[in-house]
Amino acid sequence: MHYELAPSILSADFAKLGEEIQAVEAAGARYLHIDVMDGMFVPSISFGFPVIKSIRRNSSSIFDVHLMVEQPERYIEETAKSGADIITIHAEACTHLDRAIEWIHQTGKKAGIALNPSTSLHVLDYILDKVDMVLLMTVNPGFGNQKYIDYCTEKISSLRHMIEERGLDVDIEVDGGIKEETIHAALDAGANILVAGSAVFGAATGENAGKYIKLLKDYQEKNS
Ligand code: DX5
Ligand code: ZN
Repeated sequence: MHYELAPSILSADFAKLGEEIQAVEAAGARYLHIDVMDGMFVPSISFGFPVIKSIRRNSSSIFDVHLMVEQPERYIEETAKSGADIITIHAEACTHLDRAIEWIHQTGKKAGIALNPSTSLHVLDYILDKVDMVLLMTVNPGFGNQKYIDYCTEKISSLRHMIEERGLDVDIEVDGGIKEETIHAALDAGANILVAGSAVFGAATGENAGKYIKLLKDYQEKNS
């Protein structure tokens, strides 16, 4: 299993976004988590395609784009063109999930399905073998720096169990409230891609990213 830190730029200082991204990349991050919010699916509005396009020109990281938007199928094409590598859409926001996954794959990108904390894993029953990643929200989406919701740990375990039972190779990404106090619960339950926003970006961005990357590397070594 590969373990990855996915720094969420939502918590970056946008006045120096380029430098912030360089700092996490220099620390060894391979993923960049990019949160697009529409003010409808979630209360807040973040940023959109012009921002993704400009950072794409300056970064070779894996762009992990988390679309927190209603009817995300409207934006699959443009997300792909902007430079995403993984396009994740919310099951709650999309009526024709099966078709949307196909559309993502038709663009040549990896497909992720995100679930809010209260959404049952049952929505994955018939589509789990079609996706590359499942993003389990461990806070209610919309803002950075919220508290990890403890009941999500059991949900991560159940999903890992489902994936293993079916012999699939699907990544589990966790998003929200991942910090030193919570990261081990998520890892032990079976998550392998860890989003971290407020835990990474701040006064010592590079140092913070380096600390979590080392933690994941040690975890991977211990568990392989
Ligand atoms: C929240 C976003 C997250 C957010 C996580 O809706 O999807 O990616 O940036 O922030 P932290 O790690 O601070 O909880
Ligand atoms: Zn996110």
